[in-house]
Formats: sequence, structure tokens, C-alpha cells
Amino acid sequence: MEVVMSSLKAPKELLCEYCKNPLGMDVEKPRFSWQLAADNKDRNKKQSAYGIIVSSSEDKLSSGTGDVWDSGKVSSSQSINIEYEGKKLESRMRYFWKVTVWDESDRESPESETAWFEMGLLKPEDWKAVWKGYTGGKSGEALYCRRAFELSKPIAWARMYISGLGYYELHINGERVGDNVLDPGWTEYTKTVLYVTYDVTDALKKGKNAVGVVLGNGWHGTPKLYLQLEIIYEDGSKEMLGGHDWSWSVTTAPIIKNDVHDGEVYDARLEIPGWDTPDFKENNLNWLHAQRVTAPGGRMKAQMIEPIKVVDHVEPIAITNPKPGSYVYDLGQNIAGWCILRVKGDEGTCVTLKFAEVLYEDGTVNQENLRTARAHVMYTLKGGVEEEVYKPRFTYFGYRYIEVTGFPGKPELQNITGCVVRNSVEQVGQFTCSNDLINTIQRNVAWTEGNNLHGAPTDCPQRNERQGWLNDMTVRIEESMYNYGLARFFTKWLWDIKDTQDAETGAVADTAPFRWGNIPADSTAISYVLIPWFMYLFYGDKRIVEEYYESVKGWADCLYSHTKDGLIDYCWYGDWCSPIPESWPPDKPGLPPDSPGAVTTVGSYSAVTPGMLMGTAHLIYAGRTIADIAQIIGRGSDAAAYRKRAESITEAFNKKFFNEKTAQYASGSQASNAFPLFLRLVPEGREKEVLKNIVHDVMETKKEHLSTGNHGTKFLMEVLAAYGAGDVAYKIATQTTYPSWGYMISMGATTNWERWEYLTGPGMNSHAHPCLGNVSAWFYKYLAGINIDPRSPGWERMIIKPHVIEGLNHVNASFKTVRGTVEVHWQREENQFKMQVTIPANSTATVGLPTLGAGKSDKPLQVTEEGRLIWENGDFIQGVSGINAGEVLPQLMTPHAPGADTTRTVEQMSDQASRDWIYFEIGSGTYRFELKRR
Ligand code: BGC
Repeated sequence: MEVVMSSLKAPKELLCEYCKNPLGMDVEKPRFSWQLAADNKDRNKKQSAYGIIVSSSEDKLSSGTGDVWDSGKVSSSQSINIEYEGKKLESRMRYFWKVTVWDESDRESPESETAWFEMGLLKPEDWKAVWKGYTGGKSGEALYCRRAFELSKPIAWARMYISGLGYYELHINGERVGDNVLDPGWTEYTKTVLYVTYDVTDALKKGKNAVGVVLGNGWHGTPKLYLQLEIIYEDGSKEMLGGHDWSWSVTTAPIIKNDVHDGEVYDARLEIPGWDTPDFKENNLNWLHAQRVTAPGGRMKAQMIEPIKVVDHVEPIAITNPKPGSYVYDLGQNIAGWCILRVKGDEGTCVTLKFAEVLYEDGTVNQENLRTARAHVMYTLKGGVEEEVYKPRFTYFGYRYIEVTGFPGKPELQNITGCVVRNSVEQVGQFTCSNDLINTIQRNVAWTEGNNLHGAPTDCPQRNERQGWLNDMTVRIEESMYNYGLARFFTKWLWDIKDTQDAETGAVADTAPFRWGNIPADSTAISYVLIPWFMYLFYGDKRIVEEYYESVKGWADCLYSHTKDGLIDYCWYGDWCSPIPESWPPDKPGLPPDSPGAVTTVGSYSAVTPGMLMGTAHLIYAGRTIADIAQIIGRGSDAAAYRKRAESITEAFNKKFFNEKTAQYASGSQASNAFPLFLRLVPEGREKEVLKNIVHDVMETKKEHLSTGNHGTKFLMEVLAAYGAGDVAYKIATQTTYPSWGYMISMGATTNWERWEYLTGPGMNSHAHPCLGNVSAWFYKYLAGINIDPRSPGWERMIIKPHVIEGLNHVNASFKTVRGTVEVHWQREENQFKMQVTIPANSTATVGLPTLGAGKSDKPLQVTEEGRLIWENGDFIQGVSGINAGEVLPQLMTPHAPGADTTRTVEQMSDQASRDWIYFEIGSGTYRFELKRR
């Protein structure tokens, strides 16, 4: 029986350049996205056309006059990233827009609510501000800048365009403006400086006003301010303040020291009450004139990334007193951020807080693994009867424990609150299942990822490092995108990477913004090539792949220029941080020259997998991805050339590393075998032998353990599941002894470590390192089975294909795609499998229902949906709304292994794929499948 379809409701979630109503943006041809609103009970909801109107005023928009742009009715199913094609957009102007859509039967929806976007300063000439600072201050002191001024008329509109390096905090008339912290996002300041726009219309008033800005060092060093205040009065006249004629007064109390790694020293006795108010009297001894200082050099760019904010608070769960006068708070969770201190006591009392991830046996905090980062706060009380409430602002810490000394009296739990500080991106993925250990791993990965989103995707939030390492990101992209909405974040970071690129050689740096590592980056640092590709897959972002095409090609070509006989000759990091084999001391770089498979001259930090293998395979990975990108942007001849190049490197790779007799790659380590299998480099017909070698090594030699590092772990887990040994991957995922995620948890980890070993000394052992967290993407992709179909990116089509593994009884997962939320809930019972799937409107899916091994037996199978029979013993039964027979999907059609040569794998795997899953094509809506074996 047909379900009666209602027409669509008004489109929702209107975004412009991935932002809701962005203020001060500088994309000249912004793109619009929306989601279709339909009831999940209604199936097959689709958009057949849309119409966008952009107007210069709200009135015009409500009367339907698109004086800036009227797209007309456009026949298209696209609801993501529709490019603006109207009049040239002007600096400072706010534009209003709305959208109407037509459903699959050409029925018009109600129009959306009004959305808007406002342009920032688009041209260099728009800026009249000058960089101001103070060169005479002591290093580490924060600068307090103030300026009082009068406005003669009532104000209709006012905007503050501001940047302050390293970090700024804006105040107007005694109030803090906005809640961004550690703002602006850090960049290669010599190339790019981000500015932020605030609507300050209500903060200012006719008459006396004052602007105050506190400047911290951040990643820049000497503080600098760049600010422009623009006003339109009610009478229509305009004023621009902040230019070279605007003098500032500066002083340096009470933040005596501030440093991203070291923390903050704050003397509350030096606070200057009212310093940011108009009537404040400046004392000439303390307040000096700001000077014009050298500009950082970069071009001004609007900050479009979600700003860093305090996104959550964590109350401590325990307080101990390990030695006289020292109290240790335990938040019960390793976080990134700072804390609020509440304290009452005598003037001049100094309370010290030390932040750490781990404790010594005596219960005091162990800061050894922070290396030179001092991660502390010293707060000197002003004294009095009032409780003093303090939190640092130009620093952050990766920590679970705080040791408090110098506290007047005995501190209680409520004297400290942890503040979680990161880019305010949305958490878009949720995954739970019947295995609690996996749930804890997932939870820890999500925390670890969140703890490392600070303008750039950092490697760690605690030690004297905190860098955006490109090599880590190569295997972190999917995990991060399944857990957080990162379209804006990665748009910014790609820019950072491009800023490090050498125009001549195409080389990019190991870290972006560039502080650590080398140029050219390690050959595993191909995240620069992969991110645009995943932006295309996850967010349907074609502009990114077009814009970055030449640049990422330049980086791949640079790597290629380092090959000798088709093999890449340099790779320092390789399969970073694989478990320490007994025979090797920790941190010993590379395989020794005479060990089997050791071919690298430089060495890889993985003691079991040669760097040359890692580097060369990454080059193939990059080349294939470029070929795929070239294909979709219409560069056919490039696509062919890059594919050909990848093939010839593959030949050299197999010649060098593949042992024809044993079907082992290089040292035969799990990573050595898994990576070529992942990339489908294995000579035809030998795949199962390579898989067998991996399985043997995991199950027999390593007694159900992995031996992989940050990169190899991803490839290992993927190939095991994709080639039909999901149970082995599951053993690894649920292992509890060293090396495993379960081992970390058994040692009390609430975030993932950098290394499989439990180390707490001065070396390299962060306890909040995202790069081993790619297993979380494995949960989404294989256990929940939520996958992009690369043939229709941006979740227009998806593949829902759970791997149901012995021992796992249910999975509940949801993921907010750009088109809406997809949900998978499955449950397995004796002879029965139930799965509820929700596909967002304007999307379709291929659903693979696992046959629970029944394909191998003769027992009859039946599939029902909402109780109606849709499949029986191999025959699809027509007639249920929204469900069609599906094509058999190979295991490896997921986007993790790019490259055109899918046919071979399709044939090979389709055998198993058709035995182990039954496929259906569905449209949007909620479906309840039940599979029974009788
Ligand atoms: C980082 C790693 C990174 C590595 C590169 C380390 O210090 O923490 O995540 O991959 O450097 O060698």
C-alpha cells in the first residue's frame, strides 16, 4: 500500500558558507545550503527545484523582491553549497535571503525563514586601522589598551573590526564584548591575519564611550592591536575610528606573565577597576602612549572558523591532600582548557595552580611529560571580604589534575571548576553499542579530538608543542569529521597549510601554522591532498577541491621529485609510535640497516615498518587522490597522468617490498602488509594471502594484538573488516592488554595516549593525542556501517552496511550530515536481525543487511520492513514504498581507498559481499528492517 506523501515543510538550517547568519565574512561568491524539512514517516522526500532570493533589506525580502539576486526556480536536487550569482557584494552590507523548494512531485514548500549574511571588509583600502603596540614593556606582560571618545549623535549601526595578536579581549564601556576566547585563530601571521567583526551598536551610546582591549602574547609574541570602529548615525552620517590619528593609552597590569605553554601570572592587587569605562582617569605614570608598530605582514582575512569558547564546565570529583599545604583536584576527565579559581584571603596571598595529566605515586602532580611547558597559574589575591573569582585567559592546559598550593585555608571541591576550551564546533556524531569498552574508547576519542581543536588541529594540548601536524592528520581526517562538524575548521586550516607552501618547489611544512618540523614535510604528510577530497565527500564541497587543486598537486609533485627509481627516499616519521618491540629500545629511530625490509636511509620512527614503504605508499595514495579530484573537476588528462604515475610507483613498490614467495611486504609487520592491501597495491590474486599473513601475525604471533603505530593502525583495522576479517579487528578493538585502547583505559585513560605504552616521563608521551583515535571512524564506518557513497558526495547517496560481529549485539549511531541526520540502530537476536535506519530528506541510501552467515547455509531467509515482506530466499518483492532491490556493493567501495581501479576488487569481493549482505535501495525516511532465519 502506498504511503500518502505530504508536501515538504519550509526548508531549515539555512547556512551561508557553513555559517548561520555570518557577521563579517569575506567570501565574494558565498554558497548557500539548507536542509529539507520532512517528517521521517514520509519517504522518498526529494527536492526537484529551488529558488533563492537575496535582498538588500528585510522589507524587500518579505515582499519577494530579490533586488540583489533572484535565482528563479532552478530545477536541481542540490541543496548544499549553491553558489551566489547575483550583484557584486559590497563591504559592510548585510544581505537577507530565503529559499523555497519544490518536492519530487513539483509541489512548492512554504518559504524558509529569513536568513542573512553580512560582508566584512573586502578590500585592503577598506582598512584605515594601523597596528599599535608598546615596545617598551617586559616580555610576557599582557597589554591593557584603552581609548575614551565621544559620539555626538544617536547611533544606528556600529561595527568593530578587530584583530589583536597573539590574542585580544575586547571591552566597551566596562563590559566584555562577545565570548570568544584565545581569539583570533592563529595563522601564519606573515601571510594571513584573521579579524573578527562585532555588532557593537548597542554597546555604544551617544556621549562618552571607552574601548578597552587586553592583548596577550599567544603564538605571536609581542602584542599588537589592529582595530577599526565604524559608525553610522541615525541621521545617516558616518564615522570611522581607529585610524592613525587615534591614540591609545597602554599599561601592563595585572597580567604579569602570559604564555600559551607556561600559563599565567596574575596579581589582582594590580587590577585597575574601571579601566575600560569612559570616566576612568588615567594616571600618567602608569598609562603610556601606544606606538605604531610593525605590521605582522599578512593580509587581513575574516575569521570564519567557529571561534574558541568555553564550551563546557567540569566539576572536580575529588580533592586530596598529598602533602602539607598541597591539594590535588581531580576532574575525572582529561580536558583542554583552564579553570575557575574561587578564593578568599588576605591581600598578597599567592595561590599556585599546577596542571597535569598524571600524578606521581605520592599523589602530587607529575608535569614531566609537559617537557618545558610550565603549565601553571600564580594568582595573588587583592584581599578583602569578597570571594575573588579568577580564570586565566591567554593560555590553556591539557590536564586532569590541578595541584593547588598557597591556598588560604583548606580548599573545597567548589573552589575549582574546570573550563573546557576549544573551537566551538558542533559534535555531530554519536556512537554506542553493546560493548562498554568500545563505548569508552569512542568517548575517549571524541574527548581527545575535542581537546585538540584550537585554531589548528593540534597533536596534543598539554606539552610545549600543540602543533598542527600534517602527518597525524592523514589518518585523523575521517575520525574528526565523523565526530565534529569541521567544514569551517578545515577551510581555515587548508589556508594555513597553503601559507606554508614554497611557491617554487611546492613543498609544504610538517606543521601549519609552521612552528615545528621541516619543509618539505614528511612524506606521510599527505593530509593536504586528502582534506580537500574529504571536504568534497563529507560536505559536497567542490569549490575547495577546485581552489586547492594546483596547490595540492604541487605538494604531490614535490614528493615525487624526491623519488629514486620510483621509491621515495625520505620519511622520518613513518608509522609513528608503533608499540615498542622487546628487542628495541624506545625512541630508536628506524629499522637497523641489516634487518629484513630495512631500506630507508633516513629511518622511520617505527621500529617495525620501513619509512620508505610508508612514504612511497603515501605518495601513491596522494597521486590516486589527485587523479580522482582531477576527474571530478574535469581535468581528464591530469587524471590519466596521475593514475599512470601511481601505477608505475606501485610497480616499483611491489618490486621492492613484496616477497613473491611469502606474500609478505617488507618486514612482514602488520603495517607493512596492511597499507598496500588498503590501497589495493597487492598483485592480483595475492590479496587473501597478504590478509592471511596479517591475521596470522595478529592472532598467533602477537596473541590478538596490533603492532601498528599512528598510521598503520587505521589501515590495519580497515583492511581486516573490509576483507572479511572483521572479527579479528574486533578482537584488536576490544583487547585490554598492552598494546591496545583497552589497556589505556585499564590504566585510567579518559583520553587517548600518543603511545601504546604507559609512560609519564619527560619524553614524548602525551596523554591526549588524537592520532591513534581513527578507530572511532572504524566504529561509524564498519560497526554502524554509515558510509558516504563517493559517487554522490555530500551524503546525497550513502551506504549503510553494518558489519555484524560475533559478540556485538546492538549498535546505536547517529551522524549529522550536511543534509540532515542519518541514524542507524541495529540489534541482533537469535536467528534475527533488526535495523532501524533514518535517511534525511533529499538523500538516498543503499542498505546492506547482514545475512548473519545464513548465506553459507541453506536455511531460508526472510526480510520484512514494518512487517511487510520485502525479500525472501533471494527474491526481492516489489511494492513497498521507498524500497527497491539494491546492487551488490563490494566491501571496498567506501571512500577510504581512492583510485579508479575498483573493478578488480568489485569482482573479487562481490562474491563475499553478495553472500554476506542483502542490498536494498531506499529513499529518505525511517525504515524498520527485520531479517529472520528459519
Ligand atoms: C607529535 C606527533 C607527530 C610527530 C612527528 C610529535 O611530537 O606529537 O603527533 O606526528 O611529532 O614526528
